Amino acid sequence: MKTKILVTREVFDETLEYMAQYCEVESNQADVPLDADTLARRLQGCGGVVCNLTDCIDEPLLVRCPQLRVAANIAVGFNNIDLAACTARGVMATNTPEVLTDTTADLAFALMLATARRLTEAEAYIRNGQWRGWHLKQLLGVDVHHATLGIIGMGRIGRTIAKRALGFEMRVLYHDPIRQPADVERQLNATYVTKDELLAQADFVILQMPYAPETHHLIGAAELKKMKPSAILINSTRGGIVDDAALVQALRDGTIRAAGLDAFEGEPKINPGFLGMKNVVLAPHIGSSTEATRRAMAMTAAKNAVAALTGSKPPNLLNKLSVRA
Ligand code: GLV
Repeated sequence: MKTKILVTREVFDETLEYMAQYCEVESNQADVPLDADTLARRLQGCGGVVCNLTDCIDEPLLVRCPQLRVAANIAVGFNNIDLAACTARGVMATNTPEVLTDTTADLAFALMLATARRLTEAEAYIRNGQWRGWHLKQLLGVDVHHATLGIIGMGRIGRTIAKRALGFEMRVLYHDPIRQPADVERQLNATYVTKDELLAQADFVILQMPYAPETHHLIGAAELKKMKPSAILINSTRGGIVDDAALVQALRDGTIRAAGLDAFEGEPKINPGFLGMKNVVLAPHIGSSTEATRRAMAMTAAKNAVAALTGSKPPNLLNKLSVRA
């Protein structure tokens, strides 16, 4: 008998077709978000779940779903999964690294360019019928080329952003708990600095570290004050890393110039302060959202789940577990 697997939100047809070769697949193709009770109920009898960052895979859920053997996240970040609880209960947890690195780095860059050059404001200016013709001081932005970029979080995506910055001839500073090897620093022309040095010197600060209790409000009022008044903050990773209320205040009082945001505290709720601000570019957590990448992410998660349920080690296993056949 095939093991049952639940796919918690809509995925692509080929993802379902692949899994159906190995498992009995139940999928929420209607894409209605499942609350904790519904998720637990629908997981009864399931050996696997293909989930995403809006599903909370925590201890209470695991207690209610003792047959669960794998939680395959369709995301590289996995702060929605209690990894320690999974490990303690022998549940494999997996993510989707690599396949989204370039796409997410592109979005960080897009946010940086859009914010520096005031693109969303410029577009609204045209759409609102305000444009009366070219003039010298129209929508003056700031240059990205040759500016100083500070990257906090130098994992795969951070390094790929640094690679993009080479083409813009930027000076790159970075900070991370782990320093990169000298040859990587050389290739990327990236200089390791303290967080405070980075905040004080960067024209653009891009946040690209995972969310964890240690990174909660890593950027708050005190850090924003350390940035230059001309600086722009880009959050292309997770909500909660920035204290959004402090950021709204900093943007209001000119502590920093602008922000480009693809992640929000408590999303999809957004601090209403951002909505009326011209110096903020907003995106609804679309860092990895290209057709090719989202298809690749869904298939990666499917392959992880199938491997776990058919006795192989999932390629992207997060916890250190021996695989149960
Ligand atoms: C998206 O935010 C991801 O972690 O993949």
